[in-house]
Amino acid sequence: MSDLELAVEQLSVGYGRSLIVKSVSLRVGAGELVVIVGPNGSGKSTLMKGISGVLPATSGRIVIRGAGPDVEVTSLPPEQAIRAGVGYVPQHSNVFPSLSIEENLQLGCYIAPKRAKARIIEIYQLFPDLADARRRAARTLSGGQRGMLALGRALMASPAVVLVDEPTAGLSPRYRDVVWQQLIHLRDAGVALLVVEQNTRAALEIGDRGYVLVNGEVSRDADCADLLADDELIKLYIGA
Ligand SMILES: Nc1ncnc2c1ncn2[C@@H]1O[C@H](COP(=O)(O)OP(=O)(O)O)[C@@H](O)[C@H]1O
Ligand SMILES: [Mg+2]
Repeated sequence: MSDLELAVEQLSVGYGRSLIVKSVSLRVGAGELVVIVGPNGSGKSTLMKGISGVLPATSGRIVIRGAGPDVEVTSLPPEQAIRAGVGYVPQHSNVFPSLSIEENLQLGCYIAPKRAKARIIEIYQLFPDLADARRRAARTLSGGQRGMLALGRALMASPAVVLVDEPTAGLSPRYRDVVWQQLIHLRDAGVALLVVEQNTRAALEIGDRGYVLVNGEVSRDADCADLLADDELIKLYIGA
C-alpha cells in the first residue's frame, strides 16, 4: 500500500463573512476509511466543500503527501483538484439528470477522455445496476442508483483520495449496504477515503478512524472503536 496521505491543516472555510469551519486538522491515509460525524449543521458538508475546492479556504492548507514532493491542493478549483487526485461526491445535486448514465460517467473522465471507455467498463463491473441502465436519463434512477452513479463518476478519474458526503442518506437498507460495501472495497483497494455520515453508529462501526465535528470544530478524534465505546458520545449522537 502506498504511503500517500491527505493532510488538512488548520482549515477554515465559510460563506462570505460567516466562518463555519474553524481551524480543522485531519488526515486520511491510503487504505484508510475515515468518517466525519456530528450534529446537523455542524459544518460537515462545508468542510468537504473546502477540501474539494468547491469553496475556497479562508485559511489553512490541504496537501497530498506521498513518495514525491507534497502536492498542494488548497483552494484549487474543482477540475484541478481532480487532476491532483481528489474525487468528491457532494451531498446534493450530484448527477446531471437529463444526461444518460453513460454520459454522466464520461464527464467524470473529462481530464483524460481516452481512458474513459476502459474505465466505464470497470465502473459497470462495480455497479451492475448502472450497466443495465446505461442509456437511460439519470433522472429515471432511484435515489440509491443516483448515489451509485455519483460515486461511479467520481471514480472515473481514478482518484487517490475520495471525499463522500452522506452517501447513504435517504437510501433503503439494501442500497445502504451496497454503498458501504463499495466504500469498503475502495478502502481495501488503497484509496484514502473520507466519508461524512449522518448515521453515527453505522459510520463508527464501519470506519477506521473518526472525527467528531461540533460547531465547525473537531471535538474528538480517535479510532472508531474507541469512539463507539464512549458512552457520553453515544448518548449525545445516537441515543441510549
Ligand atoms: N450556501 C450556504 N450559504 C450560507 N450558509 C450556509 C450555506 N450552506 C450551509 N450554510 C450554513 O453552514 C452551517 C453548516 O452547514 P453544513 O456544512 O451543511 O452542515 P452539516 O453538513 O454538518 O449538516 C449551517 O449553519 C448552514 O446554515
Ligand atoms: Mg451536510
